[in-house]
Amino acid sequence: MIELAAQRCQLPGWRDRLHSADEAAALIHDGMTVGMSGFTRAGEAKEVPLALARRAERDPLKITLMTGASLGHDIDGILADAGVLARRMPFQVDKRLRAAINRGEVMFVDTHLSEMAEQLRHDQLGALDIAVIEAVAITADGGIIPTTSVGNSASFVAQADQIIIELNVAAPEALIGLHDIYLPEKRPGRRPIPISAPDTRIGTPHIPVDPDKIAAIVLTTEQDSPAEITPANATTERIAEHLIEFFENEVAAGRMSLSLMPLQAGIGSVANAVLHGLMAGPFENLTMYSEVLQDSTFELLDHGTLRFASASAITLSDAYGARVWNNLAHYRERIVLRPQELSNHPGMSRRLGVIAINTAIEFDIYGNVNSTHINGTRMMNGIGGSGDFARNSHLSIFVTTSTAKTGALSSVVPFVSHVDHVEHDVDILVTEHGLADLRGLAPRERARVIIDRCADPFYRPALADYFETACARGGHTPHCLEQALAWHVAAERDGSMHAMVAGQT
Ligand code: COA
Repeated sequence: MIELAAQRCQLPGWRDRLHSADEAAALIHDGMTVGMSGFTRAGEAKEVPLALARRAERDPLKITLMTGASLGHDIDGILADAGVLARRMPFQVDKRLRAAINRGEVMFVDTHLSEMAEQLRHDQLGALDIAVIEAVAITADGGIIPTTSVGNSASFVAQADQIIIELNVAAPEALIGLHDIYLPEKRPGRRPIPISAPDTRIGTPHIPVDPDKIAAIVLTTEQDSPAEITPANATTERIAEHLIEFFENEVAAGRMSLSLMPLQAGIGSVANAVLHGLMAGPFENLTMYSEVLQDSTFELLDHGTLRFASASAITLSDAYGARVWNNLAHYRERIVLRPQELSNHPGMSRRLGVIAINTAIEFDIYGNVNSTHINGTRMMNGIGGSGDFARNSHLSIFVTTSTAKTGALSSVVPFVSHVDHVEHDVDILVTEHGLADLRGLAPRERARVIIDRCADPFYRPALADYFETACARGGHTPHCLEQALAWHVAAERDGSMHAMVAGQT
């Protein structure tokens, strides 16, 4: 491993800074705030967090942990079980951490992915004590070349008092040159960020570092965890078909060319089905300005439909991983990885005219979207990047299946139990039953379209009755709040909304 490290590390005297993961983890003390690399299970620090969890079993400690987004290798769950996490931000997807959050043991600060770096830069979150960053190589002046994600790593390196680098000698060397590192200046007086297209490069291929801050270098050969891709099914394929048809209509109406606008798509089976569906359509020269590049991105690149993709991370299944990592040189002119405050920058989304496709847990008859909470109470994952894109995109699209828990719950409700994206931020809603185009519609018009196009036929009459009763009471956005909440009360009490269809509350 040392020989490989010598090829990847140009920093003079680097051997003097080599430490075991346990030694490096000993630099982290109780009460510290730690920033770790990692975004959508890609490019996370892999050795030091596990060493920290081992240490916490002998010598309990609690930290605030900040990352880019979710971590692989069950690291969040392992740290939660070891009692290490006092506070966690900005995002997570781990079942065990989720349970600890919902028990009130871990204070989870659910934050827009683009925003945490800005808050750190302007000292709104306190000091960052240590950054732990995975690198594929270290330059002669200490610059860190990240691996499969950039996330918040550049900001952590700039803000932290000390830096631990996990040099991953098994990460593909072809990653070098793929990144475009640029951090916005402090406010006020910031100059415009000079990105005018998804393929604009504006920064350096490495994260600049003050070498004096590098407290330890830890070697690793651990690979990223593979993405778990939920295969498309009839329902997600129907959702994708509605969207593809909508895009074709937008082109026919002259509102977009066959290149559409830069696409952002979340991870998951619907996003995969939509991206896959684009291959069959008439589209050409597509671009992505998204957070994460997944299997379907590379399929589209291979197919020639996608010209360029910009994101903050690459997260691939085992099967696709082997294919991409062994042929990275083939893709390197057509992809770029940026800090997440740029991949998710609301100003870029507005400037480039991004088409944002994200998934909802539920939405209401007026177009408010809940992406994060089950029954208004229990955290699922977090808002992630959905809000970064939704408010400022050219088209803000939310998709979901019309029901959950094998039909026991309607995903279209009178009033969402928690609001992440307000009606003003939502243009298009899609379920397997159809697509509601809300552009230019007032609340009373929206309700009719959403109930008719998106609700499951089983729940449609109950929702229509609700709307009619609410309209009789009047108002710009008619509601009978006691009845609206009864849908969620029934879900909590019975695990089902069937009582609302039977007219029992
Ligand atoms: N009521 C109650 N539970 C619901 C529900 C509803 N209307 N809709 C979905 N659920 C539950 C599912 O049953 C499932 O529960 P389980 O884990 O107990 O099986 C869970 O929510 C996840 O739903 P699933 O259908 O598997 O969807 P998904 O994996 O595509 O995730 C989100 C959907 C909304 C949770 C996910 O997309 C997310 O976290 N979004 C917010 C972050 C984001 O948008 N990031 C930007 C792009 S990466």
